[in-house]
Amino acid sequence: MGFTIAIDGPAASGKGTISKAVARHYDFGHLDTGLLYRAVGRRMLDGQEPVAAAKALLAEDLAADGLRIPEVAQAASKVAVIPEVRAALVDFQRAYARRAGGAVLDGRDIGTVICPDAEAKLFITASAEVRARRRYDELCANGVQTDYQTVLADTRERDHRDSSRADAPLLAAGDAVVLDTSDMDIGAAVSAAIAAVDAAYARTHG
Ligand code: CDP
Ligand code: CDP
Repeated sequence: MGFTIAIDGPAASGKGTISKAVARHYDFGHLDTGLLYRAVGRRMLDGQEPVAAAKALLAEDLAADGLRIPEVAQAASKVAVIPEVRAALVDFQRAYARRAGGAVLDGRDIGTVICPDAEAKLFITASAEVRARRRYDELCANGVQTDYQTVLADTRERDHRDSSRADAPLLAAGDAVVLDTSDMDIGAAVSAAIAAVDAAYARTHG
């Protein structure tokens, strides 16, 4: 039987790291849905029309290098505003969510739009300053030249665009467990996430 874990949250809240650890813990598959939008954003930067690019996207395109840079993140949040782009990506995400053996999907609208019936829902957040610091450290570690103020401005701009769009905005589902990781390290955040999923499992199977 399928079991879907929906993990949403803003940029650098830790949802990707938590999702990977949760998927490993339960031996579930993991889909980082941000990569879908990043791949479409990459193609827009390369001159393609975003809706056509979203319709033509293949699973193997998500493994492409170069999707984790700030320029592509901004392009991703711009194409993510287009309802036809979002619509083109729905079926792939829903099919993944229902794969046998369980699935973790992380993004912005998994618990609200893609998988409103997910058995477990988490919304991971942290202050913009903490998130920008994490992303800045990560970019530096990967050799990307930037400064903290630029990353903070970038984070705020993307938060605003993602939260204010009409179609599938960044929003905690009413039935999501909200986890503020501002003062948590990764180990504590993963433990809290697993405890919340265990509780949801006990509720649905208990
Ligand atoms: O997927 P998302 O953009 O939400 O964040 P991430 O890629 O999981 O995390 C961004 C960076 O913050 C990574 O380098 C994590 O190791 C770090 N992080 C952290 O230091 N403490 C946390 N509680 C969560 C994430
Ligand atoms: O890791 P980070 O949170 O910085 O970004 P991401 O999850 O890779 O998402 C990049 C952009 O894609 C976001 O800023 C959103 O605009 C968009 N996105 C979305 O609209 N819906 C999703 N389910 C996932 C990402």
